[in-house]
Amino acid sequence: MGSGGWCIEKRSSFRHEPMKDFESVSEIGCLSVIVLGASGDLAKKKTFPALFHLYRQGFLPSSEVHIFGYARTKISDEELRKRIRGYLVHGNSASPELSEDVSKFLQLIKYVSGSYDSEEGFRLLDKEISAHEFSKGSAEGSSRRLFYLALPPSVYPSVCKMIRHCCMSKSDVGGWTRIVVEKPFGRDLDTAEQLSTQIGELFDETQIYRIDHYLGKELVQNLLVLRFANRLFLPLWNRDNIDNVQIVFREDFGTDGRGGYFDEYGIIRDIIQNHLLQVFCLVAMEKPVSLKPEHIRDEKVKVLQSVLPIKDEEVVLGQYEGYRDDPTVPDHSNTPTFATAILRIHNERWEGVPFILKAGKALNSRKAEIRVQFKDVPGDIYKCQRQGRNEFVIRLQPSEAIYMKLTVKQPGLEMSTVQSELDLSYRQRYQDVTIPEAYERLILDTIRGDQQHFVRRDELKAAWEIFTPLLHRIDDGKLKPIPYKPGSRGPAEADELLEKSGYVQTHGYIWIPPTLLF
Ligand code: NDP
Ligand code: BG6
Repeated sequence: MGSGGWCIEKRSSFRHEPMKDFESVSEIGCLSVIVLGASGDLAKKKTFPALFHLYRQGFLPSSEVHIFGYARTKISDEELRKRIRGYLVHGNSASPELSEDVSKFLQLIKYVSGSYDSEEGFRLLDKEISAHEFSKGSAEGSSRRLFYLALPPSVYPSVCKMIRHCCMSKSDVGGWTRIVVEKPFGRDLDTAEQLSTQIGELFDETQIYRIDHYLGKELVQNLLVLRFANRLFLPLWNRDNIDNVQIVFREDFGTDGRGGYFDEYGIIRDIIQNHLLQVFCLVAMEKPVSLKPEHIRDEKVKVLQSVLPIKDEEVVLGQYEGYRDDPTVPDHSNTPTFATAILRIHNERWEGVPFILKAGKALNSRKAEIRVQFKDVPGDIYKCQRQGRNEFVIRLQPSEAIYMKLTVKQPGLEMSTVQSELDLSYRQRYQDVTIPEAYERLILDTIRGDQQHFVRRDELKAAWEIFTPLLHRIDDGKLKPIPYKPGSRGPAEADELLEKSGYVQTHGYIWIPPTLLF
């Protein structure tokens, strides 16, 4: 692994020109990362692997950093290390150097067992963290403590209270305490506000990092650059030119062992209200005054507040056949595993343009993309309208790509037209670049004190305001999901809604990622 170094210096090596426009806190003093819920699914699959990748790249030097796992399960340090080891490295191409890094990283992890609502465990945790800080000779008041709550939200209030009472860094000379909370943050507007108030009484907004991992994805982070650093898009990005926008999430597997959790929430709370709505904000918001996190988040809030109430006739819900066979799902569950909902923005830029948010489990493919469809060309002298419209597509995953569907002359002697594309496929264009995992990037941001890619309290409130009335109608059984076959496109009614809202499908054209062509 790379030798030690301050986080800030390391990060700048990623970019030709680091673009930061916020007042960063000086990164001194030793760092403790505490993963609460360390025995769980998210911790082993995402949090610890992200920390490992940061460690390997030199962002978490062992001279300063220690990692603590905390949960109720009674296991030893060694057992926790054993549980997570297999998730740190993908595939079986582990080199001796990589295996050595895995072992060194695991030695940085200590496990403390305790409950989430009694002081005893947290006092013990504090003692362990303090011992680590003392052993590193951390100057009084300069230590940094990052608490990652990889836990069910039901325990957030008590855990936050315990941290506040037992485990705070004495942060008078550059030290800090920050907490990272996972979604789902509430079930609706009231519960989210209640949770925000409970946590807000214990921590300042600057200490709270509400994570939405979609904000850490490479192409989501590229959205504002694309929109505001390219003259090309400035005059086009509005109701005069754009007919409709789709933001789509598809998975080709069902609830996959998480049926109990999923049935409590459903696809709108699990994906649309957070991941897709965050993407929506970045596509639709106005240009921020600067890149300061607060300026960006101010614009996100404004566009969310301009969204009109969702109409029932602009929603299609679905539930895949077989969903209720999961023993953890009730026999008469009304929970949607698929939803299409149209958002309409009441402002000068977007009046009349439907934003179609669609998400589904157990569909025919796995992908997430943004599809901006332009209006028809007036005066169609080439008679090419029926071939399809211009579309600007941002493929978030898999095979990250940005492509523009255009009409061009069919090569050859005839003067005829055909649909083609300008294609920026990342795997082909950036062959030597490894795209970082979303969690890796976001955890680094929390250490650096950059809240740009985290959800602010008023943003969360505005997001819940949009979906709460619809969610209550579903919870009350007033809207019912339509059954669909696993492995299909979802209910046919969703495609009909798409067509009704103005989307024109291009027939006979499929974009094939270049990596599959050669
Ligand atoms: P788990 O169900 O695996 O819970 C994590 C840990 O919390 C468990 O190991 C358990 O530890 C403790 N725990 C579980 N249930 C309870 C309970 N009812 N009361 C108190 N403690 C409990 O959750 P995940 O790891 O899957 O998720 C953690 C958080 O991350 C959740 O908010 C989830 O919504 C979110 N998330 C998860 C994703 C995933 O892929 N798993 C993706 C995105 C978000 P112990 O018993 O040892 O104390
Ligand atoms: C999580 C949802 O937030 O995101 C899961 O709870 C979903 O249901 C996952 O599978 C998708 O994340 P990604 O990064 O694989 O698209």
